[in-house]
Amino acid sequence: MIIPKKIPLANIPTPVELVKFKGKNFFMKRDDLTGMELSGNKVRKLEYLIYQAKKERADLVFTDGGDQSNHARATVIAAAKAGIKTRLFLWGKDKPNADGNLFLDKVFGAEITFLSRSEYSRVNDIMFEERARLSKLGKKVYVIPAGGSTTLGIWGYVSFMSELSSQINLSKFTGITLAAGSGGTAAGLLIGALLQKSRIKIFAVNVLYSAEEIRRKILHLAEGCILDYKLPCKLNESSLEIIDGYSAEGYKNISDDKISLIKQFAVSSGILLDPAYTGKAFKAYYDNFLSKSKGMKNLFLHTGGLYGVFGKKEKYLGA
Ligand SMILES: Cc1ncc(COP(=O)(O)O)c(C=O)c1O
Repeated sequence: MIIPKKIPLANIPTPVELVKFKGKNFFMKRDDLTGMELSGNKVRKLEYLIYQAKKERADLVFTDGGDQSNHARATVIAAAKAGIKTRLFLWGKDKPNADGNLFLDKVFGAEITFLSRSEYSRVNDIMFEERARLSKLGKKVYVIPAGGSTTLGIWGYVSFMSELSSQINLSKFTGITLAAGSGGTAAGLLIGALLQKSRIKIFAVNVLYSAEEIRRKILHLAEGCILDYKLPCKLNESSLEIIDGYSAEGYKNISDDKISLIKQFAVSSGILLDPAYTGKAFKAYYDNFLSKSKGMKNLFLHTGGLYGVFGKKEKYLGA
């Protein structure tokens, strides 16, 4: 078994909090609190990815995402800490009064290329072509695919499971619910649970891809990680369940019923959920577990996304 190295970027362990909502208790793992500017689930992945970028003596890091990508913002800041510049390839348009993550990308000095939706569908080719061009000029580029979801990046959540098992008795829980975008967080959790010899199920709420696509992506990443790092475990596909139907409004939108739940939850708990990921995942968690009094056996993983809220101010103020 090969264990990759990392640089410390995250404030960990993050707390596990007992939260009460509408008369029901549940546990929430607060990975929104991995840091301030550098916050959310991406920080754990970037600890491994930026270590590698430094090891390869990269002059530049490339990554991609939506114009309000939390991953893109976290990458810019993590790379800045390591003294590396970032170029982002973002799906969307530039805005003079950029808010939220896009605002921070600019403040932290990212170079940004904006892509239309159709251009973004070939973003990996675009990044690798640009890397080849720069390499001829003697520049070294480390490319991080969307969400930091490579077999190396997902180690952030493989190692997360040993942190969690030191905080709670995993055998008392039947599941962990979380949002799935690129799927790397869920893939890491699946492997981490296997290494902890836990039978806990991973309930992934798909916000970007169809249920079939995200299932395939998560299992593919997990299988790849087992192979690349010679891990002594065998994937059990039934440990992964996709909770589908909670992003019908689209990745960049959020429905009024979800905003309303987010606001009720904020007022009663003091915890804020974001519009692209955790707000959707929490609605799924509420409908499927919490409202059915199954919250104490299923932990909700808050993966962050606070700055995305500022890109949807009207929605949050209007509901
Ligand atoms: C706040 C937040 N939650 C969840 C996710 C999903 O993580 P993953 O891409 O590993 O599925 C992301 C990814 O961008 C995110 O920013």
